[in-house]
Amino acid sequence: MALKHLSILLFLFSFLGVDAAVFTLQNRCKGKIWPGILTAAGKPQLMEGGLELRPGQTISITAPKGWSGRLWGRRGCSFDSSCNDTCITGDCGGKLKCGGAGGALPATLAEFTLDSPMDFYDVSLVDGYSMPVSIFPSGGTGICKAVTCLSDLNHRCPKGLELRKNGGKIVGCKSACIVFNKTEFCCTGAFNSPKTCQPTNYSKVFKAACPQAYSYAYDDSSSTFTCQGANYLIRFC
Ligand SMILES: *[C@@H]1O[C@H](CO)[C@@H](O)[C@H](O)[C@H]1NC(C)=O
Ligand SMILES: *[C@@H]1O[C@H](CO)[C@@H](O)[C@H](O)[C@H]1NC(C)=O
Ligand SMILES: *[C@@H]1O[C@H](CO)[C@@H](O)[C@H](O)[C@H]1NC(C)=O
Repeated sequence: MALKHLSILLFLFSFLGVDAAVFTLQNRCKGKIWPGILTAAGKPQLMEGGLELRPGQTISITAPKGWSGRLWGRRGCSFDSSCNDTCITGDCGGKLKCGGAGGALPATLAEFTLDSPMDFYDVSLVDGYSMPVSIFPSGGTGICKAVTCLSDLNHRCPKGLELRKNGGKIVGCKSACIVFNKTEFCCTGAFNSPKTCQPTNYSKVFKAACPQAYSYAYDDSSSTFTCQGANYLIRFC
């Protein structure tokens, strides 16, 4: 093959993102959201960790090979000069760009570990629920299932787990681990294994609402998904 053709081919491969994944973030919520992105330790943040998405808007972000981290949606943010302003849910210290800071809980998470050697992805309610989140892989090889969590858990949140703001409105549903800090809910201590940490009456409520999402830390068998070489649409609401 002529060198010219080879270089065109290489250009096309890099352009098509053979060794990177494109995350397309889509806001299908009624109002604005501010996705937060936290990259796992030691790697550069994507979009400096935060962005704004108007209703109906989509933004594509390229994640480098081997990227690993989580995304969540923030609601009710106002970022202005006071530096005091925060988001109603998912806040990361009052800043648009989370820059390595995690979000306030509860938060529905979209989690990714790319190229390990496959891509692993999931929607997690282990840190509670704040809004519907779904992941749709495209163009990959393997099982590559869509993961949806569309249920409005704020309206079915177990008593005692509700996060209320703005005069009592339920804006999130906390995990039993956070509220009760018990080893059986947190899968810690004697419950620190898939065998000993079993679903609880609380995690079962989350599982019923979003069967494909993690409802507790060792919920792997029904909640971890794999694909290879895909791009991912991450849809909020
Ligand atoms: C920032 O928050 C603190 C404590 O919540 C409050 O006392 C202060 O007035 C706030 N400052 C501004 C500029 O809003
Ligand atoms: C779970 O069980 C505990 C103890 O039996 C009970 O106090 C609590 O109300 C139950 N919660 C739900 C959501 O069923
Ligand atoms: C949770 O409980 C453990 C002991 O089981 C304790 O060490 C820890 O400080 C508690 N965490 C919170 C946030 O209360």
